[in-house]
Amino acid sequence: MEVVIAPPAELARLAADVVERLLAARPDAVLGLATGSSPLAVYDELARRHAERRVSFARARAFLLDEYVGLPADHPQRYRNVIDAELVSRVDLAPVAVHGPDGLAVDLPAACAAYEAAIARAGGVDLQLLGIGTDGHVAFNEPGSSLGSRTRVKTLALQTRQDNARFFDGDVDAVPTHCLTQGLATITEARHLVLLATGTSKARAVQQLVEGPVSARWPATVLQLHPHVTVLVDDDAAGLL
Ligand code: GLP
Repeated sequence: MEVVIAPPAELARLAADVVERLLAARPDAVLGLATGSSPLAVYDELARRHAERRVSFARARAFLLDEYVGLPADHPQRYRNVIDAELVSRVDLAPVAVHGPDGLAVDLPAACAAYEAAIARAGGVDLQLLGIGTDGHVAFNEPGSSLGSRTRVKTLALQTRQDNARFFDGDVDAVPTHCLTQGLATITEARHLVLLATGTSKARAVQQLVEGPVSARWPATVLQLHPHVTVLVDDDAAGLL
């Protein structure tokens, strides 16, 4: 695990460098995209580089980490819509090449199995961008998630719903109670994992991620077992290392 401590703007540039290099070497690469606030500066940087014709997503494919259950198709916080607004609409990534778990499926377990199959058919994820929750979750794998988990339905922890209420006008009751999420085993099958974290609220989770024992209590610690992980953190998030 490589840990880089740098100011937030530099972290975004470093993550964008990884994406740019991958797409230059493999234009049809499979990207794993994360939502949440952590990757937003990376998407801004990629949109800028795309405008400068430094990077093209024309042949790339992408898979989202997770999705809320039950948000209407046009809800702005549906992760598929978030990623469309933050990245897809700003670059030449084809909307049909972007996939997410179907949080509106009638049969949610079947949708999860179909999602796993779609990732496998694409040949797996080359580069997975990740954030981390204050409780150490990755995607929506909350504390207690099996380290061997696959894409499945999960109940969101109250802490996560409180953290994410800021995206729902501060109303925690508006945050869905359930989600579909790639499992920890699904995520760690990606060939390169790049995790971003900034701010003091992430310091404890980052400390566990880097220095803690591997445990479902802090799901992100499973990344310690992966051979190619880049952790990009600012001084605040690195404050307990
Ligand atoms: C959300 C997402 C995660 C994200 C995390 C941190 O609940 N499902 O994928 O990494 O929480 O979010 P943020 O980057 O906004 O702090």
